[in-house]
Amino acid sequence: MSVISRLLGRTGDAAIVIEPMRKRDVPAIMAIEQVSYPKPWTVGVFQSEIEMSRRGERHYVVARRDQKLVGYAGAMFVVGDAHVTNIAASPDARRSGVATRLLAELAWEAIRRDCQALTLEVRSSNVGAQALYRRFGFAPVGVRQKYYENTEDAIVMWCHDIAEPPYRERLAELCPEAVR
Ligand SMILES: CC(C)(COP(=O)(O)OP(=O)(O)OC[C@H]1O[C@@H](n2cnc3c(N)ncnc32)[C@H](O)[C@@H]1OP(=O)(O)O)[C@@H](O)C(=O)NCCC(=O)NCCS
Repeated sequence: MSVISRLLGRTGDAAIVIEPMRKRDVPAIMAIEQVSYPKPWTVGVFQSEIEMSRRGERHYVVARRDQKLVGYAGAMFVVGDAHVTNIAASPDARRSGVATRLLAELAWEAIRRDCQALTLEVRSSNVGAQALYRRFGFAPVGVRQKYYENTEDAIVMWCHDIAEPPYRERLAELCPEAVR
């Protein structure tokens, strides 16, 4: 992506629109999912997560730019914590703020639901995603050995005190468009 198009993407000319994930989004999601992960989720997993979103047990969103689906993310909620289950941006839309917007949306939703912390697992080799999470205040707290395909370690990351004013300010600085 060129410097100019990145700037346009971050200043609103091609604004990102966030919407609830729907079953009709799944084909476009799968096109991204399959090129984003060594072990992609199946159509059935997404449909089941969307069902659980409807019951309030999950929160899944998609990001569109010029009506094109460019990313998606979701979280599950467990006794005061929000667990980020999936976040991905279309390869041709990466490094233009899509995941930042999605993660900010999940964080604000977690705050709305009175969660105190965010957590997730990330492949030890996925240094790009880890950099994104560190910007959001996630810190590594442990390793699940051979968590992925019984081969690759997972880094467990947590981000605490998300409902406190300093964290809300951090979120607002990272992504003013997502502020609730
Ligand atoms: C990880 C991923 C979601 C990031 O999405 P993105 O939309 O490109 O992220 P953003 O544009 O919001 O990036 C925000 C910041 O995160 C960091 N970052 C993101 N991707 C990075 C990379 N590949 N390398 C280094 N830093 C990266 C940078 O600090 C970046 O800011 P900058 O572009 O101003 O330098 C995307 O690469 C992806 O979909 N990967 C495949 C799926 C995946 O690994 N998901 C995470 C599973 S745990």
